Amino acid sequence: SWTPGAFVDLTVSELKEKIGDDKVVLGLSGGVDSSVAAVLLHQAIGKNLYCIFVNNGLLRKDEFESVLHQYQDMGLNVKGVDASARFLGALAGISDPELKRKAIGNTFIEVFDDEAHEITDVTYLAQGTIYPDVIESISVNGPSVTIKSHHNVGGLPDFMKLKVVEPLRMLFKDEVRRVGAELEIDPELLGRHPFPGPGLAIRILGDITEEKVRILQEVDHIFIQGLRDAMLYDKVWQAGAILLPVQSVGVMGDERTYEQVVALRAVESTDGMTADWVNLPYEFLQKTSNAIINRVKGVNRVVYDISSKPPATIEWE
Ligand code: XMP
Repeated sequence: SWTPGAFVDLTVSELKEKIGDDKVVLGLSGGVDSSVAAVLLHQAIGKNLYCIFVNNGLLRKDEFESVLHQYQDMGLNVKGVDASARFLGALAGISDPELKRKAIGNTFIEVFDDEAHEITDVTYLAQGTIYPDVIESISVNGPSVTIKSHHNVGGLPDFMKLKVVEPLRMLFKDEVRRVGAELEIDPELLGRHPFPGPGLAIRILGDITEEKVRILQEVDHIFIQGLRDAMLYDKVWQAGAILLPVQSVGVMGDERTYEQVVALRAVESTDGMTADWVNLPYEFLQKTSNAIINRVKGVNRVVYDISSKPPATIEWE
């Protein structure tokens, strides 16, 4: 029967044999799959694995810095690339969800291609593709989605001409987590909720500005940290906040306010294909709502999304 220990031993020796002294480039996302793929490859080929972690400016609050440090502490040969301004520039004025995804996908490819060119004589492109990505052909994990939709836009970027190595392509998510635990990857990283490749861009309805990203990062941080503090984080499959493109009237002292509305969403699911909204305790929602309204300037109303999938999707865009 399958065990994570046997999988690690076999995979590391197969990777060693296949790759030899060649160089491999891999895009880290901060998620479970790319992290586990990186550690496996690192065990097999060490410094010949070149990891690239791109900040698209649409990650959770402080996530780029903290995850980059975590990768460095794991001994990975990783380069952090802050391309926030480039992504925000590419997104300027775009409100349509699919156009947002395209803009982000194309920018990611450009940034990654530039970085891959910095590595001399690279032979392989490694990806954290897992079995459901292979069978569904749509990946819920960032780069591969956008890479696919890029195929018909003229010539391939150079990094896509590399040979591909996908050490997790036969595994399901729970097996990837068990392999990660076997590799002694931080349980906090392994237990992280799924997070979409386009990040907060698809949780800001309407066009995206730096200020909206900042507001949403603050709101999301209060919500997610609150879930952790209340020991609810691990009971939820995925959670996040959505910045709505409406303003509503409120009062503060004698003043009338006219400010943003945010929605909170928390779902239970096993694979993201169907999902139920989570019945979070009223007391928790009350505390969270107060904290958001008191601490995040520009937000005067919080609502909780009680829609299940189907027919509602997990993301609002
Ligand atoms: P939906 O909104 O379709 O989401 O119910 C199902 C799962 O997929 C994630 N998701 C994405 N992940 N790129 C991604 O990498 C995307 O464009 C994207 N759209 C949705 C979503 O967060 C949920 O986990």
